[in-house]
Amino acid sequence: MADERKSSTGLVAVLLGRLDIVTAVSSALVVFVVYIFGRAIYDLYFGPLRKYPGPKLAAVSRFPFFWAAYNGDIHTWVSAQHAKYGKVVRITPTDLSYIDGQAWKDVYGHRIGTTGNIPKDPKFYGSAPNGVPSLVHGIDDPAHSRVRKIFANAFSDKALKEQEVLFKTYVDMLFGVLKQGTKKDPSKAFNMVNLYNFTTFDIMGKLTFGEDLKLLEKNEYDPWVAVIFQGVKENSRARAMRNFPLFITLEPYISGEAMNKKRIAHFNYSADRVDHRLAAKSDQPDIWNLVMRQKERYGLSVGEMHSNASLFMLAGTETTATLLSGVTFHLLKNPDKLAKLTTEIRTAFATEEDITIESLAQLKYLHGCLEEGLRMYPPVPVGFPRTVPAEGATICGDFIPGGTSVCLSQWAAYESELNFTSPKAFMPERWLDDERFAGDDKSVFQPFSYGPRNCLGKNLAYHEMRIILATVLWQFDLELCPESTAWADQKVYTLWDKPPLMCTLHPIRDV
Ligand code: HEM
Repeated sequence: MADERKSSTGLVAVLLGRLDIVTAVSSALVVFVVYIFGRAIYDLYFGPLRKYPGPKLAAVSRFPFFWAAYNGDIHTWVSAQHAKYGKVVRITPTDLSYIDGQAWKDVYGHRIGTTGNIPKDPKFYGSAPNGVPSLVHGIDDPAHSRVRKIFANAFSDKALKEQEVLFKTYVDMLFGVLKQGTKKDPSKAFNMVNLYNFTTFDIMGKLTFGEDLKLLEKNEYDPWVAVIFQGVKENSRARAMRNFPLFITLEPYISGEAMNKKRIAHFNYSADRVDHRLAAKSDQPDIWNLVMRQKERYGLSVGEMHSNASLFMLAGTETTATLLSGVTFHLLKNPDKLAKLTTEIRTAFATEEDITIESLAQLKYLHGCLEEGLRMYPPVPVGFPRTVPAEGATICGDFIPGGTSVCLSQWAAYESELNFTSPKAFMPERWLDDERFAGDDKSVFQPFSYGPRNCLGKNLAYHEMRIILATVLWQFDLELCPESTAWADQKVYTLWDKPPLMCTLHPIRDV
């Protein structure tokens, strides 16, 4: 009897204990649900961004933005929101996207008489593997200005002129690959995405490491370059996941030891090449010879050399090759424009030696085609976010509270009817004072960004784009293969996820 009483008391205690747990869990759930609803109502009706238009779900949850970014549809999703809601859209509870030219000045420009320029959003940028910020990572304004001054010397017009021979060498190699290929098999299809990448990586490898990567020579990616491309999608998805605080906490465990090791090994390989180059004597006009002229004046640490070399190998390669691929595609889809450009190039140059920095810069239609390529297929299609400092900032005439993340979404801005006439048509003429496009808002077009953190390699990029495209079109007639006719319908993982661009080439001269 006593035993029975004992066991029933025990059972009651267990049940009560369970009840406590159930009560605690359900109370926590209720609190959580109330918090979520309360937060949503606050974000929607009372929060500081309540007046900004956008999808209701995006105003209360990061999920729509995350989902579009994770699936490679961020460019079309953001663009659709701007088409529906106008030039500024709330894309998450705390993020605003702009497609207004004034936003370049207000978000990315120099801010005078304030606490400083609007800083980069660390969620988006991450950090360099050696912990030393490169120009593009979280580096404060004074350090950025010091390092940028040193490197500016290596990317100036004067440096470009000294480097001209080097560009010619690699453009000739590209020409050699195309010529030999067409000679062997006139119907051979070339993947122009790869060939443009091989050329820009070879050029940048020579400038950054003083060394040949030999991609054009071997006609394939070397394993070190291949890793750069493999990482783009993974990194972009991790960036999208950082919208959720829980992921930021768990990221080191989720991304895993192996991934981290791979990232560090990749970085170290590049750092070793820099060390090797610095130890070697060289009179080439590469980055380091041009930088060393400044080193004593401003001081550049070895860590800064390593992290920036790694940056140059991505920022200065894929971007330029992307534009070249995009402009080649749009020209092939618009035979009248291609014919006009080909005529301009072939009448301007009697021999290949005539193709120089100065003569290329005179070609107006070539300039129009490159600008139009950058508009329709900007190599950086997404917005680069900045976080408004605590005291707030005025953007496009409105006060924006501190902590808001703001950006100008490039592709959405360039394909919007709010900014351009017939935005979906490839019209180089819009950059050549054609009256039909007098209403275009060109202030919104800044494919190399704007202000103190704009592209350091803009001059170099323009020269590479001009010389590579002009040399190809001077030598060959191009034809788009049927499998590439819808090439531009692509996903975006921060950068375009480019499929092969298959073309056949027909030599037009015997060289
Ligand atoms: C068509 C080609 C290119 C495009 C469209 C492009 C675009 C851009 C954009 C939009 C930024 C701003 C990024 C940000 O706000 O975080 C940038 C920064 C940068 N780009 Fe480029 N880029 C191109 C080619 C190059 C080349 C050839 C180099 C040569 C190394 C280069 C080096 C850099 C560097 C170092 C930065 C960081 C500058 C700083 O923060 O001071 N880019 N680029």
